[in-house]
Amino acid sequence: MIDFRALAERYDTPLYVYDFNRITEQYEKLKKAFSGRKSLISYAVKANSNLSVITHLAGLGAGADCVSIGEVKRALTAGVPKYKIIFSGVGKRDDEIEEALRDDILMINLESEAEMGRVEAIAAKLGMQARVSIRVNPNIDPKTHPYISTGLHENKFGVDIETAKRMYIAANKSAHLDPVGIHFHIGSQLTELEPIKEAATIVADLVRSLLAIKIELKFFDIGGGLGIVYDDETTIEPYDYAQAVLGTLYGLDMTIMCEPGRFIVGNAGWFLTRVLYEKVNEGKRFIIVDGAMNDLLRPSLYNAYHKVEVVGKSEEGAPADVVGPVCESGDFFAKNRPLPPTEPGDLVLIHSAGAYGFVMASNYNTRPRPAEVAVIDGADRCIRQRETFDDLVRLEKMCL
Ligand code: LLP
Repeated sequence: MIDFRALAERYDTPLYVYDFNRITEQYEKLKKAFSGRKSLISYAVKANSNLSVITHLAGLGAGADCVSIGEVKRALTAGVPKYKIIFSGVGKRDDEIEEALRDDILMINLESEAEMGRVEAIAAKLGMQARVSIRVNPNIDPKTHPYISTGLHENKFGVDIETAKRMYIAANKSAHLDPVGIHFHIGSQLTELEPIKEAATIVADLVRSLLAIKIELKFFDIGGGLGIVYDDETTIEPYDYAQAVLGTLYGLDMTIMCEPGRFIVGNAGWFLTRVLYEKVNEGKRFIIVDGAMNDLLRPSLYNAYHKVEVVGKSEEGAPADVVGPVCESGDFFAKNRPLPPTEPGDLVLIHSAGAYGFVMASNYNTRPRPAEVAVIDGADRCIRQRETFDDLVRLEKMCL
């Protein structure tokens, strides 16, 4: 049991709190599900890129799925071996590609023919052969929020099957490209298995057709996206997930890769904020807290549901909106929740904030980003300090 009161006392609010033992459990569940095969769990660094989180996962054996050279550097700094790092993303700058090649990471994931041309040219300039995979867009509806759905042709991600095939043939002929993997990712917060199975079937068929023309790939990367419980969702069991994918790989001896972010860290994190005061506007109740949309954006951006609890008070009360101090009506954490009466200073705990929480925080309204605390075997330590006003203005110049 985490003592949130003691943490608020020690580190102040607003605060992110992560349970590292929970992170371990989630990682192990997934690793075990794929234990029948060679597998690599490449943690999607974008979900929570705190160096201590990445180091913890690296210690468990995880690789890293990165979407910018900054994330690649984080992964290397955190101790992820270079041969477990992949670099994905729909648009990469030449300098990012060059640095990734110099870093000698496991592979660069290509999302267009144009990008393949750039990677080939840069590898040629460096006198290298670039290990690459290609992201295939299987045109499958993942049945999730439109902002986090990625596997349909109307989305900007990946290439269609025919283009992918053409690209593999070209890459295989190139002296500067070494096609080693194939990749798909149909969306995030997936709660249905069928779309994943369909996508894996389409991509595995492509792998077999490539094998028939002597293009042999080593890595079958199924992306991330496993959903978690925010409210009352029925989620996919890692075992069923693994079985569904493995079932499509008959005749293929490949290393399975997956890139979970949310599944690993989502429910291992909380956002802790303090009640400033309550007010009622013509019968509408508001609980105003010291955290805001700049700290945790998901409710404002996706209308995402996060469980909200007033620490130490379990009774229900009149429906209330939990809102922050930012000058936007969209600055809320919850709407119309039956919450107990609160006093200034009460602590409000926002659940499921470990993924896409701190990483999406900003300094809007000149608000310093919160501190982050890790709890490991009952002991807590600060893994990122709260920003100060000086941090916020450090890069600005008074030039008038
Ligand atoms: N791999 C690729 C290629 C991805 O695009 C993503 C997420 C992942 C892996 C990790 O997905 P996960 O296992 O965490 O679902 N900010 C949004 C989520 C954006 C996800 C973007 N891509 C949110 O707060 O829900």
